[in-house]
Amino acid sequence: MLRLFLPAWLTGIVALAQSHSPNSVTFDKEVLPILQKNCQGCHRPGEVAPMSLLSYSEARPWAKAIKTAVLQKKMPPWFADPEYGHFANDRRLTEADINTLVAWADEGAPQGNPKDAPPPLTFQDGWNIKPDLVIEMPKDFQLPPTGTINYQFIRVPGNFNEDLWVTAAEMRPGNPAVLHHGKVWVVPPGSKWMANAVPGEAYENQEAGRTAEGDGNDILGKFNPGLGAQRFDVNGAAKFVPKGSDLVFELHYTAMGKPTTDRSKLGLVLAKHAPPTRYILLSGAPSGLNLVIPPGDSNAEVVAEATTMTDFQLAYIQPHMHLRGKDYELRLIYPTGEAETAFKGRFDFEWQLGYDLAKPIVVPKGTRIIGIAHFDNSPNNRFNPDPTKEVHWGPQNWDEMQGVFLGLLTDMKADPHKLLKPSGPSLLPRGKSGPTLAALEPTTAR
Ligand code: HEC
Repeated sequence: MLRLFLPAWLTGIVALAQSHSPNSVTFDKEVLPILQKNCQGCHRPGEVAPMSLLSYSEARPWAKAIKTAVLQKKMPPWFADPEYGHFANDRRLTEADINTLVAWADEGAPQGNPKDAPPPLTFQDGWNIKPDLVIEMPKDFQLPPTGTINYQFIRVPGNFNEDLWVTAAEMRPGNPAVLHHGKVWVVPPGSKWMANAVPGEAYENQEAGRTAEGDGNDILGKFNPGLGAQRFDVNGAAKFVPKGSDLVFELHYTAMGKPTTDRSKLGLVLAKHAPPTRYILLSGAPSGLNLVIPPGDSNAEVVAEATTMTDFQLAYIQPHMHLRGKDYELRLIYPTGEAETAFKGRFDFEWQLGYDLAKPIVVPKGTRIIGIAHFDNSPNNRFNPDPTKEVHWGPQNWDEMQGVFLGLLTDMKADPHKLLKPSGPSLLPRGKSGPTLAALEPTTAR
């Protein structure tokens, strides 16, 4: 009745107030769509997160924890500094979504009406892509109950009768509890790397020759918690796997206290036609092979540099460090002297995230690509295995790395081994610390 006498603008306000009034936020109507879009990729059975958020009964006990996690921006995990770069896979929630989740928890986490719920998402046997082709390790790897397990390398026959163009890849552990991270390499016919390996057998100490010049070995798929599937179809690009290639699964396992097994697999989405551009994932440069992190230093700087030997576009950035890694910046210094920060963000060892640039960056020949990292080698770093140690480059987690995986879009004719060469600080002999920004050649502009 009253409403009849209210002016139209005021009824609008009344309606708005009602839609935000207590008890209006329900799981089925407002919360589930947010969980589907932002959380269920990890929070479902068989994925990296410890609990499922598929249904009301599964999510209800976590309402308070969800409120805390989204308010603190702990979930979804995302470490890029918003000041720099835009990313296609940006996982941050909108403020509106955060408010909805908080209101739901504050109002006692009601279910609402199941009729309001969106249909459940469908997942294809746990895959986050729809693979056209699945390649599995031929047999189980047997893990010992304890002790350090060196990196394992297993050659897996490809049996590809024709060239493959791959637009997306997802590596999935058979046993997520023990696979810390993994990579699947393409070994083209004629490559000398692991040429005599018996297919299916696990070998150690095979790092040498993996990225040998001219051998064409390339990373096809990767696994680490939170990374998800990898897409290569940026601007119509795809990854190239020559006919007759084999694959090598590189696996870093952690023992779990009892003997167990793993059999990991790789799913691939294939392009129908050969694409105009090739997507290459580079892991060689810029790298801080000469890094020195002094004992106890809570903010040790290490700078690495590489110079581009040809034009390409930069599409993907995934910093890589170990237990002492703290933050990372990728800076481009163009031949003109102009500088641009393509990525800057916190680094968290438990989340080796990758960042897909919303718009690939054109990188002309002669550009210096600079990686600037900081490490925490103090006792305050809860991951630090030994703050009294001077740390150098090495493969195990108690050694360090300062590197980055770069996804590049190149000309079909480009040689993957002639894209970047180490320069500047990366050419210096190992010192007592660093190398730091002080070792950079000065530029005309910043
Ligand atoms: C990339 C994978 C991933 C995504 C996306 C993700 N989570 Fe998580 N979540 C995890 C993992 C792994 C853990 C356990 C490790 C940890 O707490 O860091 C976790 C832990 C949590 C916890 C427990 C935190 C605690 O303090 O114990 C909550 C609550 C949570 N997630 C909620 C969410 C919500 C809500 C979303 C979506 C808005 C989300 N997560 C998105 C992987 C993910």
